[in-house]
Amino acid sequence: MPKIKIEELIHSAAQARQLAVAPYSKFLVGAALLTRTGEIVTGANVESASYGLTCCAERVALFKALTDGQNDFVAVAVVAKAPSGATPCGACRQLLAEYAPNAYVFVADSRALKKVHRYTVAELLPRAFTGDALR
Ligand code: THU
Repeated sequence: MPKIKIEELIHSAAQARQLAVAPYSKFLVGAALLTRTGEIVTGANVESASYGLTCCAERVALFKALTDGQNDFVAVAVVAKAPSGATPCGACRQLLAEYAPNAYVFVADSRALKKVHRYTVAELLPRAFTGDALR
């Protein structure tokens, strides 16, 4: 993946992070998905007063993209104010494994956007439940 595209994706996630709705944790997270055709779809975390209803940035971006007809993803970037960045939570890993199984996951600290950590979805969630057994 071209370095310039990774930088753009990280930048998009950082921008999206500004729109996080996180009045309870105050932990702002931004995510940006890159489709195979080069489009970028962003999301940010949205929290609820009923805490468990909170939705992470990664899933907001994924649900936005999927319901906009996008279903072929090559990468996702996640930006949060966290040393070494914040890797997706278990729930988001499951959704990524189902809908973006071949994607790279780029993670960066909002204070050091140039220091990017790269993972694959498969390495973050090995032996994921795919749902094949349901079909
Ligand atoms: N959060 C995300 O949006 N993505 C992650 O990868 C980890 C956690 C959100 C959920 C909640 O709004 C806040 O961060 C604190 O957990």
